Amino acid sequence: MSNETMLTRRGLFMKLGIMFNGLVATALAVPIVQFLLSSITRGRGNAYLSWVALGPVSEFPEGETRLATFRNPYVMPTDGKTADTACWVRRIAGDQFQVFAVNCAHLGCPVRWFPQSGLFMCPCHGGAYYRDGGRASGPPERGLFEYPYKIENGQITIQAGELPTPGPSAASVGAAYDRPGRA
Ligand code: FES
Repeated sequence: MSNETMLTRRGLFMKLGIMFNGLVATALAVPIVQFLLSSITRGRGNAYLSWVALGPVSEFPEGETRLATFRNPYVMPTDGKTADTACWVRRIAGDQFQVFAVNCAHLGCPVRWFPQSGLFMCPCHGGAYYRDGGRASGPPERGLFEYPYKIENGQITIQAGELPTPGPSAASVGAAYDRPGRA
């Protein structure tokens, strides 16, 4: 076998190796790029800014706190029941509401409203909150998170795409609520 043939064969294998590596790199890159662009390609771009109706205002009697559910706008139809999200709606009076995230501000367990005691209670570690969402006792370091809301065409709607988290605005709300004795 001549030297020229050896070089040609070596060159061929080299090219095949480069092509194979290119294919593997492409196969790995496609899902990563898809994930990075998913908020645009799957139409979720502004979902977190959208407003979701919870129901007619008349379904929430004054002075009461009721459970409501909504479809999280930040998910896809294929997400099924996992996209159904609960929240607590407190109608103070007239068009004055508070809409609380159902998740405890400690580690996120769903809190439950007990009208008898006027407290939200967390089943996980005993966290308790006053009717206005302020922290009453237990491990949570702040009050319940609240959704922004507005009344539109007789419906109470909330900005629900983004779960309330301890960002700068939530932190200031929490500080205000973290006082015992609020109404
Ligand atoms: S998750 Fe609610 S008190 Fe810990």
